[in-house]
Amino acid sequence: MTNMTERAKALDEADPLRAVRDAFFLPEGMIYFDGNSLGAMPKSALEIVSEATQQEWATDLITSWNKAGWFALPTEYGDMLAPAIGASAGEVVICDSTSINLYKALFAGLSLRPERSVIVAEASSFPTDLYMIEGALSSRPGLEMRLSEDNLIDLIDESVAVVLVNHVDYRSGQLADVTAITAKAHEMGAVVIWDLCHSAGIMPVDLNKHNVDLAIGCTYKYLNGGPGAPAFVYCAAEHIPHISQPLSGWWGHAQPFSFETGYAPDAGIRKFLCGTQPILSFRALKAGLDVLAPLDIKDIRAKSQSLTSLFIELVEAQVPGLTLASPREAELRGSQVSFSHPEAYPIVQALIERGVVGDFRMPNILRFGFSPLYLSHADVVEAVTRLSEIMESGVWKEPRFQARSAVT
Ligand SMILES: Cc1ncc(COP(=O)(O)O)c(C=O)c1O
Repeated sequence: MTNMTERAKALDEADPLRAVRDAFFLPEGMIYFDGNSLGAMPKSALEIVSEATQQEWATDLITSWNKAGWFALPTEYGDMLAPAIGASAGEVVICDSTSINLYKALFAGLSLRPERSVIVAEASSFPTDLYMIEGALSSRPGLEMRLSEDNLIDLIDESVAVVLVNHVDYRSGQLADVTAITAKAHEMGAVVIWDLCHSAGIMPVDLNKHNVDLAIGCTYKYLNGGPGAPAFVYCAAEHIPHISQPLSGWWGHAQPFSFETGYAPDAGIRKFLCGTQPILSFRALKAGLDVLAPLDIKDIRAKSQSLTSLFIELVEAQVPGLTLASPREAELRGSQVSFSHPEAYPIVQALIERGVVGDFRMPNILRFGFSPLYLSHADVVEAVTRLSEIMESGVWKEPRFQARSAVT
């Protein structure tokens, strides 16, 4: 055994999360670094979804809205997720997609600051966040978007209504400073919305501790909720009575089944709902939330830092030509490591063929997401060995690795 293999073995033996991997399906031989795009499938999802189809849908049909508690799932699962993001019961609701929830959250934030009209965001933001701001601007004249290059905090002044920030940069994995940005926003009287897509379930977030106003995020990445799983909205309890959102559908009504003519929002977090929710996807998400529930988020963060640090160390030692595009300091990065290379795309495709699944991000990024729930230090060692073989042999230069698919 090499020194590195021994070191990885010792780290894995001391890992308090090592048994969690058995809760997931993963194909033999595959090393999966795309949990920051689509998390692995929890084995229990099969059973839960099977029960939901065979019993709740096929057999109990419409009665399941009450009997199986379908109608309450958005808040029930929201309460399950709340501890992982430092929120309290009643502050989180699961529903719709992240993009749709962003739209609601933007207007909800604006509804708290009706006299202001500026929305601050990062130019490097995940694009949907900016696209949804553009949509907001086109639906309400007078709004203005102010984009930061790398000085977001300096753009927050007393004209700003809403600051929308990504907790983790999707390209570089750089972690934003929740404490400083939230404090500056509040000092200037602005409302802050955090996009937690790349941090929920993978690191402590502490929304309540930092007095965060609003947050949104998806559940199909590190929460392992399944493809297209419903997203979440967090709203601080103190704001719920005063806030409004524009997608005022019947599920957000105080009494949906009174079928009143006029809209009257629910008094609680259900006011962020719009219409009927995808119940089978909710059931699949339950499997992901069940896996997370008994775990300590601090253990998850510690292992994530250990895995990503080892990966950086080994790639830099064994694979010339790749340039680190993520922060070197573990405290400054999320659970991903990015490297740049002018030929990143075909290299990623060659890696996938060798069973190491990461992804490519424009313009030249090889991106590796680390879920400590199903990755080990031994996986990291093996993945870097395969990467180094691909680079040494130059197999990635074969034309078949150049073909671009719709999803990269
Ligand atoms: C940071 C971030 N925000 C928003 C989204 C978009 O989410 P959705 O497609 O679920 O609306 C993503 C998707 O990957 C993301 O990474």
